[in-house]
Amino acid sequence: MKILAVTLEKCSGCALLINDKIIFSTSEERYSRIKSDSSFPKQSILHALKFANIQGSDLDQVIICGNKLSLIPSLTNEYSTLDVDDQLKIMKKYWYPKLVEKKSVSFLEIIKDKINLEQFPFNTKFAKGFDYFSLENPYTENDAKRVSVFFKDILADLLQIDTSKISHMEHDWCHAAYAFYASPIRDDNTLVVTADAWGDDLSGSISIFDKKENQLKRVKEYDHRDFQLARIYRYTTLYMRLLANEHEYKVMGLAPYYTGPKREEVEKIFDKMLELDGLEFKFNKEIPDIFNFLENNLDSFRFDHIASGLQKFTEKILVNWFTNLITEYQCTSVVFSGGISMNVKANMLISEIPQIKHFFVPGAGTDETLPIGACYHHAEINGISPQSLNTMYLGENASYTENEINKIPNCKITKFTDVEQILSHLLNNKIIATCRGRMEMGQRSLGNRSILADPRDVENIQKINHSIKMRDFWMPFAPVVLFDKQDELLDNPKKIDSPFMTIAFNTINGRNKIPVGVQQADETARAQLLKKEQNAILWELISKFYEKTGIPALVNTSFNLHGEPIVRNIDDAIRVFKNSDLDILWLEDHIIEKI
Ligand SMILES: [Fe+2]
Repeated sequence: MKILAVTLEKCSGCALLINDKIIFSTSEERYSRIKSDSSFPKQSILHALKFANIQGSDLDQVIICGNKLSLIPSLTNEYSTLDVDDQLKIMKKYWYPKLVEKKSVSFLEIIKDKINLEQFPFNTKFAKGFDYFSLENPYTENDAKRVSVFFKDILADLLQIDTSKISHMEHDWCHAAYAFYASPIRDDNTLVVTADAWGDDLSGSISIFDKKENQLKRVKEYDHRDFQLARIYRYTTLYMRLLANEHEYKVMGLAPYYTGPKREEVEKIFDKMLELDGLEFKFNKEIPDIFNFLENNLDSFRFDHIASGLQKFTEKILVNWFTNLITEYQCTSVVFSGGISMNVKANMLISEIPQIKHFFVPGAGTDETLPIGACYHHAEINGISPQSLNTMYLGENASYTENEINKIPNCKITKFTDVEQILSHLLNNKIIATCRGRMEMGQRSLGNRSILADPRDVENIQKINHSIKMRDFWMPFAPVVLFDKQDELLDNPKKIDSPFMTIAFNTINGRNKIPVGVQQADETARAQLLKKEQNAILWELISKFYEKTGIPALVNTSFNLHGEPIVRNIDDAIRVFKNSDLDILWLEDHIIEKI
C-alpha cells in the first residue's frame, strides 16, 4: 500500500507511507525557504515521490488532511506573510466586528494585499475564473466544498491520477493516529489525547486503543467553542505583541522568570474565561472575543506576570484534565498530540501524574505532522498496523560531490574520518554546525541539521547567539543527552522517553553542570534523549565527550539563520555557514573550518 497525505495550511507539506512505514515526510518551508510556509506543497510532494522512486500513478490513495479547508493560507501564505501588526489588524477589523458587533466582514478583503496569484497553483488553468472574493469567511461549509474540488483537481493533475483516488481525513483523526502510531506504546486501553485551537470545528478528542481489535476508538470530542485553551494561549501571545501561532514557545520560555504574587492574579483572570468540570470544558459565554477581553483585563500587568500566569493556568487545566481522563477511562498509558502538546513544561507535569505509567509525546505535534497521522489512520482502517516512528529523520539526504565542497572559499577542508576530530573542536569551544544524513521532520533539529556546542561554558550562549541565532535573551538552548546516562543530569524516575525534545525535565544541578542547556530560571531542560540506534555517530560523539568531561550531553539547537527554516541541503548549509560566524561545518565526509 502506498499512501500520500498532504497538509495545506500552516507548515504545508506531505508524508508518504509504503506498506506499514513512513518513508518520507517534509514541509514546504524547507524548499521555499520561507518559515512556516503555507503555500501549496508542490516541491514536498515531488521530492517525496522522487525519494521513493515512484510515480503519482503508483499511489493507492491520496489524502488531504482536514475536511473543512480554507483557501486563504495557500492563497496569501498567511502564516509567513502576516506580521504582528497584520494580526492585530485582523483582530480589530475582522474578529471584533464579527464576534462582538455581529457584523459580516470579509476576511480576505482585510489581507488582500497578501494575495499571491503568481504562485502555484493560482497561476494554473484550475484557478482561472475562481472568484476568491466570493468565498465567505474562513472555514464555512460552502467554502470548504469549493476548496475541496479545487485542491482535488490540482492534486489529480500534479500526480496524474483520477480525483476518485483523493479523499479527506478529519483533522483530529490525523492528530490522534499520529499520537498513537508514532509512539512506541501499544498497550491495550492507551489513552490518546489531541488538543489544539481548531480543526474541523474540534479543538480536542479522546480515543482509546483497543488492542483486541487493533484499532483506535474515539470516545469523546471537544467543540472548539467550549475548549478554547489553545486560542487563549494564542491570543495572549499576540497581546504580548509576539506573533500568534508561532511564538507561543517564547511565552512559555518567559514564564519561569516570574513566580511572585502577580502570577496568581493573572491566573484568576484566565480562570474567568475557561473552566474544567470533570471531563467537560466550559467557556464563559459572556466573553465573545478573547483578544478584546485580554486587552480589557491585562493592561496593568507586566509581560513576565502575564506569561507566568498564563502558563500556570495552562498547566493547571491540563494536569486536571488528564487526571480526570485517566480516572474516567482507567488508563495508565497516555499519548498526546496537537498544538498544545508543544507545551513541554505542561507535558512534564502531565508525565508526573502518579497514575500514568507510560507517557509519550511524538515529535512536532502541530499540524505539520497531520499527514503522517492521516497515513497511519488510513492504514489502520485498512487493517494495517503501522510501525512506530523511531526517528524524525524523514527528509532529504545531505548528499554532495567533492567539487561542491572544493568551491567553498577561505576554508580549510579536512576529510572526516573519526568523531575524535569533532570532539577536539568541541573541547576547544568551537561551535559546530552539522548537515549530515537525512533532514529532520519538524521544528526540532535532532543532530543532522543542528548546531552543537559544549554545554558547560556559559559563554557559549553568547557565542551561539552572536554566530547565528540572535534568539531572545530569555530563551534557553536544549541539550541532547545520552539516554543511558540521563540519571546524571535529569530527574526522570519513570524513565519517560523523549527522543524528539517534546518533554521538559527537572535537572540535577543543571545550572552548574550544563548551564547552556537549561532554562536558567527553573533549571529544567527540554532534553533530546538519545539512544545509539537513533543516531550512532552523534551518540558516539557524546559518549566520547562524556569520557573526557563527565558530562553526557551537548547543546543542540537548530541550524538556521534567524527567521529562516532549518537548512535542507548542502547549498543551504554552505550559504548559512558563510553568512554566520559559525566555526565548523561538519558534513558527511568532510569538516569545513573557517580560516
Ligand atoms: Fe491541529
